[in-house]
Formats: sequence, C-alpha cells, structure tokens
Amino acid sequence: MLSTPVPQDIAYMRSRLFFSAILVLTFAAPCLFGQDGPPQPAPGADQSAPAARPHRPLPKPVNLKVLPKDIAPEELRKIMRGYAGSLGVKCNFCHAVNPQTHKLDFASDAKEDKGFARTMIAMKQTINDQYMSKIDDPDAMPADKHVTCGTCHRGHSMPQHFMPPPEEHHSPPQGAPGAQPPPQ
Ligand code: HEC
Ligand code: HEC
Repeated sequence: MLSTPVPQDIAYMRSRLFFSAILVLTFAAPCLFGQDGPPQPAPGADQSAPAARPHRPLPKPVNLKVLPKDIAPEELRKIMRGYAGSLGVKCNFCHAVNPQTHKLDFASDAKEDKGFARTMIAMKQTINDQYMSKIDDPDAMPADKHVTCGTCHRGHSMPQHFMPPPEEHHSPPQGAPGAQPPPQ
C-alpha cells in the first residue's frame, strides 16, 4: 500500500512516458517510413528542420517530364512517398532495378507503371487546375479543394470498384415510421 504512487506521481510518470514516446517517434519515424511511408503533409507544410533528417541526400533529378524540373530533391522525395503511400506500394512498383548495381534506378523509364504514373500526375493537375478550382463550395475544407492520388486509389495500386449498395426492398421493422400503412 505504501508504495502505491500518489496521483501526482502517476501524472508525472505519464507525462514522462508521453514525452519519451514523442522523442522516439520524432527520431524513428523517418527511418520507419523511409521507403514506403504514409502520404506526407501538403508540400511546404513544414520544412523548418532539415538538419534533423538522417537521409543520404538524393541526387538532383535528371529525367522529370511532368513535375517541375527545378524541384528540390527533398520535395521530390516527399511527393514520391505520397505516391507510394496513396497506392499502397513501394518505390519499386514504378522504379526499375539497375541489373548491374541491383539498386533502384530512379531516372530509368523501364517500368510501364512509371509511365502510367506520369499520365496520372498530369491528369490530377488538370482536374485540380481546370475543374476543382471552379468549385466554390463554402462547406469545403482546404483539403477538400483538390483531388490527390489517394482520392481515387485509397491505398490500392488499382482503384477498387465501387458498387452502390443494392436498393433495400425488405420492409422496415414493425413499428418503425412508415412500416405499415395506418389502419383506416
Ligand atoms: C506510382 C509510381 C511511383 C512510385 C510509387 C514512386 N515513384 Fe518516383 N517517380 C515516379 C514518376 C512518374 C517519376 C517521374 C516524374 C516526372 O517525369 O516528372 C518519378 C521520379 C523519381 C525520381 C527522379 C528521378 C530522376 O532523376 O529523374 C526520384 C529520385 C524518385 N522518383 C524517387 C522515388 C522514391 C524514393 C520512391 C519511394 C519512396 C518513389 N520514387 C516512388 C513515379 C513513382
Ligand atoms: C480520378 C481518379 C484517379 C486519380 C486522382 C489517380 N488515379 Fe491512378 N488510376 C485510376 C484508375 C481508374 C486506374 C486504372 C486504370 C487502368 O488500369 O486502365 C489508375 C491506375 C493507376 C496506375 C496503374 C496501376 C496498375 O496496377 O497498373 C498507376 C501507377 C497510377 N494510377 C498512379 C497514380 C498516381 C501516382 C496518382 C496521383 C498523381 C493517381 N494515380 C491518381 C484513377 C486515378
């Protein structure tokens, strides 16, 4: 009984645990999500602490055909992780392995899916620039204002078919409003 922690102690221990968890997450997350992490926040959301990133610097991109050619390698990496997360795949879904080095050759166009992805990137830009920008819906949050890869893909490389649920024909339970016409 004597050794039971008093409520302040518990609160203290909890806050210690909480901050340790935050610390662990802060430093472990970039490693855990290095290859195929979840979609990253919108571009430009937070790039305030580049020094804390343990990654090897990516080389400057040399074969961009739809993304801006002068994009910062860090920004490109964020976008790529977003694609991987939105489609539920790893980088090698779109990027071919170099047979000599056995490493991914990101500039190579050998994989068909990279070409498909280019078409999709252009499609998404057109949808957003030419159509979504015309929807003036006061109820929409900023994140509702544009289509992303995840809007359609939702974690699948092939978007899943959506079937509207069949119209319900069985009669509602007894006593529910409109269950039976009232006796005349
Ligand atoms: C859904 C397909 C897809 C996935 C998944 C993907 N990429 Fe890409 N990546 C592309 C496309 C498409 C381009 C070329 C974009 C363009 O032409 O503007 C590209 C370009 C790149 C480039 C620039 C190469 C160069 O020199 O031109 C790098 C680096 C890159 N990706 C890294 C990654 C990394 C790292 C991952 C995994 C986190 C990844 N990609 C996942 C489709 C993908
Ligand atoms: C408007 C809905 C929509 C959006 C937005 C969208 N896609 Fe797609 N995507 C599709 C559909 C539908 C298919 C299947 C087309 C087919 O196979 O003929 C597809 C297929 C693909 C494929 C080929 C998959 C496979 O298994 O071969 C890739 C790669 C792809 N999308 C990447 C992307 C990327 C990257 C983005 C974001 C830049 C994106 N898509 C945004 C609807 C979408």
